[in-house]
Amino acid sequence: MNKNIIVLCGGFSDEKEISIKSSQAISAALTENGFIVELVNPADFNSYAHLLNYLNDRKPHLVFNGLHGAEGEDGRIQSMLSLEHIPFTGSGHTGSAIAMDKFASTLIAQSLQIPCPKQILLKNNELLSNDDIDFLQIPFIVKPNSNGSSVGITIVNDKYQMPQAINNAFKYDNNVLCQQFIPGRELTVSILGETIMPIVEIKPLEGFYDFNNKYTKGKTNYICPAELTEDESKIVKEYAGAVFKACSCSIYGRVDFRYDGNRFYFLEINTLPGMTELSLTPMSAKAINISFNELINQIVELSLAQFKSQIAQK
Ligand SMILES: Nc1ncnc2c1ncn2[C@@H]1O[C@H](COP(=O)(O)OP(=O)(O)O)[C@@H](O)[C@H]1O
Ligand SMILES: [Mg+2]
Repeated sequence: MNKNIIVLCGGFSDEKEISIKSSQAISAALTENGFIVELVNPADFNSYAHLLNYLNDRKPHLVFNGLHGAEGEDGRIQSMLSLEHIPFTGSGHTGSAIAMDKFASTLIAQSLQIPCPKQILLKNNELLSNDDIDFLQIPFIVKPNSNGSSVGITIVNDKYQMPQAINNAFKYDNNVLCQQFIPGRELTVSILGETIMPIVEIKPLEGFYDFNNKYTKGKTNYICPAELTEDESKIVKEYAGAVFKACSCSIYGRVDFRYDGNRFYFLEINTLPGMTELSLTPMSAKAINISFNELINQIVELSLAQFKSQIAQK
């Protein structure tokens, strides 16, 4: 009998539209891989209790988490599913929560001697002082601490822009992270199980990798594998693998870096990276001959194996 998989898609986050695109691609691959697939959007239920009842009634072989951002990616859905012993794809609740908190994951990276931008975390509508600005130096980056898809991010080029940039970021999150701007190149490293996959270099034609450059076709060039020396690749891949593990992440994900030509600076971990056929993790997999269908299949297998080993440990 074919096994059934429920793909969670959409949800409530700022990234729900992207999630729907990812989930459609995931569903097509799962169907081709022989599973019976149902797309389920948490936003179609009156409450999470109703969603949970529905999942318990359906008894899926696995829940494939196709959500991006907020409750789908920050550990809350993962906690709910694991308390009910429903197997799901990707990192568990701890890794998801740590990775969603850019400040927390950066502190862990620093403890592993991985370079990170100088940074200040602001809470409760605080602004930066002049001393803070002297510490970060202009230009600096202002971003919501736990959002994704480059929403609410500003590069501050003049200190008079600072209040507006910070107030804008506070619209998306109660915590705002201000970071030294790291000039140079942008790299992202995808992980699948124990494999650190080929590095992708991200080259927006204009400006930085903001929402528009991320999601409009043709606005950014991607180079995979990135043109780096063997030594450079080795360092950034080691950083990616080490911070991913130390943050309790597992199964698959993507780690973002900036490279100033001298050091690789850790930016963040994405535990539910984009999964359309044109997204960066599938692109990286393709470079080592892992097709999109095979990538989805490996995520299913690795996630089921993790679930079984957790049950066995109880
Ligand atoms: N400290 C930084 N220095 C330079 N560019 C940055 C810095 N922080 C973020 N950026 C730019 O903003 C983009 C989004 O930031 P990131 O921290 O990856 O958050 P998210 O992708 O979750 O929105 C990055 O891809 C990068 O282009
Ligand atoms: Mg990012």
